[in-house]
Amino acid sequence: MDAGVSPVPDTEAARFVGVGLGPGDPELVTVKAVRVLSRADVILVPQTERAGADLGRAERLVRDLRPDAAGVLERVDFAMRQSPAGAVEPADSRTRQSARDQAAARVAARFDTGARLIAMATIGDPSVFSTFSYLAEAVRRDRPAVRVEVVPGITAMQALAAAAGVPLVIGDETLTLVPATAGTAALERALALPDCSVVAYKGGRQLPMMRDLLARYGRLPGALLGTDIGGADQRLSALADLDPDAKAPYFTTLLSPAVSR
Ligand SMILES: C[S@@+](CC[C@H](N)C(=O)[O-])C[C@H]1O[C@@H](n2cnc3c(N)ncnc32)[C@H](O)[C@@H]1O
Repeated sequence: MDAGVSPVPDTEAARFVGVGLGPGDPELVTVKAVRVLSRADVILVPQTERAGADLGRAERLVRDLRPDAAGVLERVDFAMRQSPAGAVEPADSRTRQSARDQAAARVAARFDTGARLIAMATIGDPSVFSTFSYLAEAVRRDRPAVRVEVVPGITAMQALAAAAGVPLVIGDETLTLVPATAGTAALERALALPDCSVVAYKGGRQLPMMRDLLARYGRLPGALLGTDIGGADQRLSALADLDPDAKAPYFTTLLSPAVSR
């Protein structure tokens, strides 16, 4: 640059973007997600303890979509553990909170040292049960000049409905998404409404409990289970066909379509 010519001021706001990558199929990633990932200075991906050589799902997708991702990828520990059986479980809430605080401090430090676009890759949609929401809140609080944005992704429940060829909702039906980890009351309230389609996330280990409740509300015949939807090992089953004591991996979604259909 010539002496005396001042650099063009960088007026574009720094951005923190939650990027939804869909359920796991690289073909179900939006064009916008690919564009943001290709321009990001830093791409955060969740890390699961003990994942070992098996990269996290989000990281695998990012590496598929951006071959030179290694230089910008950063794994963030959100205090989730992977058991030898493959289930992913949260650590206790204090450990989880301190992991989130550390992640937030890291994001702030990256902005302070010059990053303009930090993307956080999430499975499914960033607004649905995602650690992105906690980090977004921290960034808004700690670095208010940073713009926080979301690139939506296809959720596991949409991918399950599509794979099974079953509508999620039609006509005047309603839809309730329940985290099975919240206990039985929320699930039961939704199951009791015949015109409500019910989706349960995070319920692999609670499958026998969910099966009992579904049977109580006459919903066992239509209930569907999808594991690793969108991945090479995708499995779809009718819940009624499974062993009543069977449990399922963490990446399992249950769909009970409205029974008033
Ligand atoms: C922390 S939530 C993340 C949800 C995700 N943000 C979404 O929009 O679908 C994790 C739960 O999502 C569901 N899930 C996510 N990806 C899945 C997949 N590929 N197959 C089946 N279930 C999946 C499972 O119920 C899992 O326990």
